[in-house]
Amino acid sequence: MILQSKFDSKEKIKLIQSISELLKKNNAVVVAHYYTDPDIQLLADLTGGCVADSLEMACFSQKHSAQTLLVAGVRFMGETAKILNPEKKVLMPNLQAECSLDIGCPAEKFNAFCQAHSDRTVVVYANTSAAVKARADWVVTSSIAVDLIDYLDRLGEKIIWAPDRHLGYYVQKKTGADMICWQSACIVHEEFKTQALVQIKQLHPDAAVLVHPESPQTVVDLADVVGSTSQLITAAKNLPHQKMIVATDRGIFYKMQKACPNKIFLEAPTTGEGATCKSCAHCPWMAMNTLEDIFTCLDIGGEKYEIKIEENIRKKAFVPLNRMLSYVKKFKCK
Ligand code: 13P
Ligand code: SF4
Repeated sequence: MILQSKFDSKEKIKLIQSISELLKKNNAVVVAHYYTDPDIQLLADLTGGCVADSLEMACFSQKHSAQTLLVAGVRFMGETAKILNPEKKVLMPNLQAECSLDIGCPAEKFNAFCQAHSDRTVVVYANTSAAVKARADWVVTSSIAVDLIDYLDRLGEKIIWAPDRHLGYYVQKKTGADMICWQSACIVHEEFKTQALVQIKQLHPDAAVLVHPESPQTVVDLADVVGSTSQLITAAKNLPHQKMIVATDRGIFYKMQKACPNKIFLEAPTTGEGATCKSCAHCPWMAMNTLEDIFTCLDIGGEKYEIKIEENIRKKAFVPLNRMLSYVKKFKCK
């Protein structure tokens, strides 16, 4: 199911035109994640912005010449843009857009955890606060987590991994690295249900299963392809299958369907035994990004919309983030 627009098409085009003028006036560009509303993805596409996974969003924010970055996503994405581009203004339509992984890893507790294992290299997922990144040796995103941990393992390094326990377990299993993991999870991906997925697979034996690695291991075990949001879209294009069952936020269906208009995409189930379906395959924080707020944020601006990071923290957080970007620059950034 693709998320539906709440505007009729005339209203939507009018609003997008007004935002487009404001973007030009403010020398701004939209940097959006695949989980945002299709209207926001359309806005980014029509105005020369990007719709991407978290690594590509970071790369785009550095490469683009605009002086203002309008980040449509969740707070850690806006913070990443600011850490990398202190000279630019970074706006978000709603600064309350958090991430359960970030919330589940408070900086003070994380510092104590690191101190208790001070012989280990600290690797944190991009889905963390600037203060947690400031304590890390490396930042990673889902698209390069296996590569990078494998590289560190070959160097003989023992690792602290935070905060996503499912991604940590997946990476540990793939690389065999010596890792101790912080125990947070994504509230969206954690809801995918293994038994119900097995049943859907039986109903659609010709479908490929695409899974984001923030999902529980038993769901990952059923996947044909595991990867970041961009990697799942690429897989949808390249696989010969005409049908896909997809275990990630349903915002991704907009781009998947555009990339493969003739293929059929099914949501992996969040119902079944033990299900609460609080998020039902859509991140509540990503859903806080709206076209109306983007308009207001560019029109009125101000503190309410601007990402600010204490300079001391920003400088420290820049080091592991930049280390990651240098590692991938040659072959990952578009
Ligand atoms: P990607 O880097 O794969 O886009 O993941 C970001 C995220 O928050 C997934 O829940
Ligand atoms: Fe965080 Fe999960 Fe939302 Fe991604 S989908 S931003 S990991 S809560």
